Order: sequence, then C-alpha cells, then structure tokens
Amino acid sequence: MNVNIYKSSEECNSRLAEYLIKEYLCKDKNIAISGGSTPIGLFTEILNQIDKKFEIKSNFFWVDERCVDPSSVDSNFGSANKHFFSKVNVSNNNIFRIRGEEKPEIEASNYTELLKTKTETIKNIPSLDLCLLGIGGDGHTASIFPHELKKLSDKSDCVVGINPDSGQKRVSLSIKQINNSKEVIFHVCGSGKKDVVDMIISKRENYLDLPASHILPNSKNLSWYLDFDSAETFMDT
Ligand code: 6PG
Repeated sequence: MNVNIYKSSEECNSRLAEYLIKEYLCKDKNIAISGGSTPIGLFTEILNQIDKKFEIKSNFFWVDERCVDPSSVDSNFGSANKHFFSKVNVSNNNIFRIRGEEKPEIEASNYTELLKTKTETIKNIPSLDLCLLGIGGDGHTASIFPHELKKLSDKSDCVVGINPDSGQKRVSLSIKQINNSKEVIFHVCGSGKKDVVDMIISKRENYLDLPASHILPNSKNLSWYLDFDSAETFMDT
C-alpha cells in the first residue's frame, strides 16, 4: 500500500492528475470514478495539465450514482459532466454512466451486465483497471455505508445503498467488485476525514466498522493520495 501525502489539496490533486494522465487517460483503460466534491479539484488539475487537443482514450464508469435524474445537482454523472467531460476531448462512446433515473434494483442489475460486456473478467468477475474512491467522514466509500455492513459480503457486482442522512438510494459497485480492480486509489482531502483516514490505515479501534477498511484489492495495488489536512492524525501517530 502506497500512502502519498501532499502539503495541500491542490498539490495532491495535481500529482494525482499527473499520474492519471500518464497511466490512464491516454490509454484504452477502464476507470471508475466516484462522486462528491473531492473529484472536482482533481478534474480542474487535469484540465490544467492537458491541452484541448489531448484525446482522452480511457473509458469511464462510475463507482456509484445517486438515484436521481442526470440533470439533478445531486447527480455524480452531472457533476463530472459539468466539471470535466464537457470540457475535454472524449467521445460519448467512452462514457458509461449509471442511470440514476431508473429503478435502483433494475439499474444495479443492468450495470452489472454492462460491466461484464465492457471489461475483462478476473475469476469471472468484471475487473476495472482503476477504481478512484473517496471516503466519507463516517468511513463510507462508494455507497456502502456503516449502517449497511451486511452489504460488505454481498456477492453481487452492483448493489443498492441508502444514504443514512438523506435516505437517498444509490446504485454502487460492491466491495467485491471494487476489490477485483487492478488498481484502487483513495483520493481524500480535508481535515473532516483525518480521523477515519488514520483509523483505516493504522487499523485502529473499530476500523472494521468502516466500509472503507474493507477495500483490499486482490491485486494488492492500493494507493492513498492525501493532503496534510486529511493525513494530520495519521502523521501524528
Ligand atoms: C458519492 C461518493 C462518495 C464520496 C464520499 C466523499 O456519491 O458521494 O461516491 O462515496 O466519495 O462521500 O465525498 P466528498 O468528496 O464530497 O467528501
């Protein structure tokens, strides 16, 4: 496991952007991205480092999607499209959003089938080249929340999660699916995450109650991109 810590979120985003451009965006690779606010700073840094002519060759999938219309402000696809896809040279044929407007259970099944057709399988499970994950302050990742720990052992490739605060349903890759990726990166910035980051990396206290602690890729290829704020507790221990 590689833990990369940078003095600011800007530097963290810049270095992760550099890596993604070099290893993924210019290649025919399958990447699953997360939603929330952290990826927005990363999108900005990628845009800063590529020119308009740069052709993005990778295919984009989602780690999870809120069960809303893509035009909703809550939509992870909508956010990525606004801040990234609408500004770069990438074909729509390379973008495979989770259809948040469909019935959650139906879309979970449909997305599983899509992954099977678009990605290679390892041990008969679809295998993405990279999953880019965030972590919530409660230790959730993707849309696997602490109040739904039973979902950790779900054998499906895609599951339906429920945000405990809003009750909003989400379609999410399962932990099993994420752990079958060739590479997994946690991209975490901000002091609000400093305690869960330390609990997970240091395997402290009740860390197994945090879904993000169960991200253990079979490939063993797991990295963290952190800023000082999110790594503060970890650096102090
Ligand atoms: C989502 C994400 C979720 C996110 C974390 C961190 O749909 O919200 O996939 O898992 O990565 O909640 O969110 P922030 O980047 O906004 O802190």
